[in-house]
Amino acid sequence: MIRRMTALVALLLLVVPISAAPLRDEAVSSRDGLVVCTSAPACDAGTGILARGGNAVDAAVATAFALAVTHPSAGNLGGGGFMLVRTPNGDATTFDYREKAPLKATRTMYLRDGQIDISLTNAGYLAPGVPGTVRGLALAHKRFGKLPWKELVMPAVQLAEEGFVLSDALSKSLNKQLSGAMGRFPTSVEAYGKPGGGRWASGDRIVLKELGKTLRAIATNGPDVFYKGWIADRIAEDAAANGGLITKDDLAKYEAKERTPIRGQFRGFDIITMPPPSSGGVALIEMLNILEPFDLKSKGRNTAESMHLQIEAMRRAYLDRARFLGDPDFVHVPIADLISKEHARTLSGSIDPLKATNSVELGKDIVTVTAQEPDETTHFSVIDRNGTAVSNTYTLEGGFGSRVVVKGAGFLLNNEMGDFNKNPGVTDLTGNIGTPANLIDPGKRMLSSMTPVIVAKNGRVVLITGSPGGRTIINTVLSVVLGVTEFGLGVRDAVDAPRMHHQWLPDAVTIERDGTTEEVVQKLRAMGHTVNVAGTQGDANSIEVDEGGRATGAADRRSPDGKTSIPRGLTSRR
Ligand code: DON
Repeated sequence: MIRRMTALVALLLLVVPISAAPLRDEAVSSRDGLVVCTSAPACDAGTGILARGGNAVDAAVATAFALAVTHPSAGNLGGGGFMLVRTPNGDATTFDYREKAPLKATRTMYLRDGQIDISLTNAGYLAPGVPGTVRGLALAHKRFGKLPWKELVMPAVQLAEEGFVLSDALSKSLNKQLSGAMGRFPTSVEAYGKPGGGRWASGDRIVLKELGKTLRAIATNGPDVFYKGWIADRIAEDAAANGGLITKDDLAKYEAKERTPIRGQFRGFDIITMPPPSSGGVALIEMLNILEPFDLKSKGRNTAESMHLQIEAMRRAYLDRARFLGDPDFVHVPIADLISKEHARTLSGSIDPLKATNSVELGKDIVTVTAQEPDETTHFSVIDRNGTAVSNTYTLEGGFGSRVVVKGAGFLLNNEMGDFNKNPGVTDLTGNIGTPANLIDPGKRMLSSMTPVIVAKNGRVVLITGSPGGRTIINTVLSVVLGVTEFGLGVRDAVDAPRMHHQWLPDAVTIERDGTTEEVVQKLRAMGHTVNVAGTQGDANSIEVDEGGRATGAADRRSPDGKTSIPRGLTSRR
């Protein structure tokens, strides 16, 4: 216990400046609703909507548009994502607004001399899929919204037009981008560069004029202006002028989809989460099912014995992810089998409690060559006073996506095409996957790891969570869900707790720096695991609800600018 606390304190020291005491986001609770997100002004835009009588979906839409202004590395108009909604009567649904491959895309478009040319998916005009965010938010609003659309977009318009104050972290990341990858694109420098030149500093006000104009058009005219109107013209013209693929036809044909969530059961908790094209929901439920027969709690959360079992569950679920998962509109995904208790029993039975399984051996039927995803996405959680819960993760893929700002429209496009399997038939030890389910096809959605989750028990919401982090997302979410359901932690402790990641291949586990001890690492190595200790993992902005209906937020302290926001004027705080 002491060791765990020492590790936790060390982790906090790593991410929270010493001068920040008392700790940021200490147990903020409310019965009037909450928004927990990664950028304070955007969380406040959401609770502003709650205070005006909007519901959780209204607040989520407002938060998402505001994040497109104040958190440009991942908040977006030019990307895509998933929203999960649960209403107080227990009904739940999801909105899939994942990007799609342009109609001109081909299976081998990122291969040069038979090798993946990662520079083509990292940045530039060939990297983006057809954006889904504006359609997705509009669909969620059409289905559940209470306040008028325009009212939900206007806080973002205001933030863009009047400007907002840069945090230390955002000023630094903008400077880094402008002198690096984003600096290659004149429209991006024009949008995000400091007027008159020079470097941004913490406390500077940034105004995003063209983004404001685009948002104002979306507020006034609705989503069609983005997909069929002048914004679509700008996207298509810019692509055509720079070797990109997205056309007006791609945009006009884009549809967000409402999909039935997938559900699992773990120790009496209902796990409600995202179906494909997310791989996260299936893999999360599969891992929980694999772990159910083991008593992790009595082994202790961060012991080698308990971590070994979790790593083995990860290894097996990520192998199934590589084997089977892709866009369900294009390939058959055997969801019911993968999340069945029966499948899990077979997999649990194959775990040696003392010895690591070899990943290549386990998946030798699909490994063809025996010779990591970047880090930006954002998750927010919302609940309103009536108990409607929203779990939303959306992304540009890498930080600032393709780094390309659309000329004349002021917003960044994603680089999500990199989430497809880019080299057909080639699955190697580095984590490249070449299986059929997630190959590029025109109009197909690329597989995602984004895993928005709502956990309920006895008919009421217990936990809302999710995270960024590429393939690590699913394991970050597993960690928070296990923290609450298996280890009985409160949401603050479950979010603070150390995390780890194993994704089948590469066959190595990465444990958060200060999330473990030398003794545990040595024990894991003795079992045959390759162990790396590095960095921090995820940004799981989460909400827990107690039996009396009081919601408590936990903004993830691994990220510097997050906040639990409560509706002004309606607040109860403890
Ligand atoms: O959809 C996915 O799985 C990835 N494009 C998410 C990327 C991501 O989380 C990067 N961020 N931290």
